[in-house]
Amino acid sequence: MIKILITGADGQLGNEFRQLAPENRDIEFIFTDIGELDITKEHELNLFLDENPVNYIINCAAYTAVDKAEEEPEKAFLLNARAVEILAGICAERKIRLIHFSTDYVFDGTSARPYKEEDTPHPRTIYGSSKLEGERMIHKANDYVIIRTSWLYSAFSSNFVKTILRLSKEKNQLQVVADQIGSPTWANDLARTVLILIDRYHHHWFEDRYRIYHYSNKGACTWYEFACEIIKITASGIKILPVTTKEYPSKTFRPAYSVLDTTKITNDLGIEIPGWKESLKHCMDVLTP
Ligand SMILES: NC(=O)c1ccc[n+]([C@@H]2O[C@H](COP(=O)([O-])OP(=O)(O)OC[C@H]3O[C@@H](n4cnc5c(N)ncnc54)[C@H](OP(=O)(O)O)[C@@H]3O)[C@@H](O)[C@H]2O)c1
Repeated sequence: MIKILITGADGQLGNEFRQLAPENRDIEFIFTDIGELDITKEHELNLFLDENPVNYIINCAAYTAVDKAEEEPEKAFLLNARAVEILAGICAERKIRLIHFSTDYVFDGTSARPYKEEDTPHPRTIYGSSKLEGERMIHKANDYVIIRTSWLYSAFSSNFVKTILRLSKEKNQLQVVADQIGSPTWANDLARTVLILIDRYHHHWFEDRYRIYHYSNKGACTWYEFACEIIKITASGIKILPVTTKEYPSKTFRPAYSVLDTTKITNDLGIEIPGWKESLKHCMDVLTP
């Protein structure tokens, strides 16, 4: 039986694995978050794994507060890089396969086409730099896969979709940035894809492959278009006004273009990735039944 430890299980992505567990009875999941298992503590991890041996660790734990990371870089690097190094070392010793997530923010957003896995990263934020450092640290694990994703949302935790839904009840109009382009990703689709990857590769795990994949929902949009689609589904009366990044500056640099090229994961796994509007609708059905 495949045994999988999910770390950071109370976050957006971790919670989606919880949702999928009943459909995957051939897998034994162990769900933990910082209360049960702090991944920055090597000794704690070793004790936990002595008692709960697993074949895979899916690391959903991360420091994801992009703006706050600028003020507390040590915390971002501890969780996004040092903890990944610890996990990688433990996985190598115990022959555990490690699946880890990274971000479109490792790129600087100046590309004129979707980013491929082999494009050179150039992060412009502490968050992006800490995630890139985590990608480098993971090479200490023998068996691993990194999946970079973008604009993640789900019915759990806080995210853009839930923020727009909340504001649509509180305000009559809302300004949303219309000159940053990316691809929204429903965390449920990403979690399903990870389970497909494990199923496909369990018996012949990656050897010489370049073990980074890009995954997002198909298509691209601006934050403004994303917000308009959310509002369209809710049929709320709120007016969404497009603004430029200059007019609505954020504390932290945001890439103007961070679309990920998903050809490699699509071909390797033989999957069809749902379009972002279709997946948004599914998530909204859960959020606003
Ligand atoms: N969110 C996005 O838009 C986005 C975009 C691209 C890539 N990603 C990547 O996708 C992955 C999943 O992101 P997500 O949005 O699901 O993250 P999330 O919702 O922020 O969840 C992360 C979870 O990890 C927990 N955690 C914090 N410190 C921990 C520790 N020391 N040990 C164990 N758990 C700890 C967090 O608890 P607390 O909440 O108590 O801190 C939280 O429950 C991450 O690798 C992220 O970098 C996310």
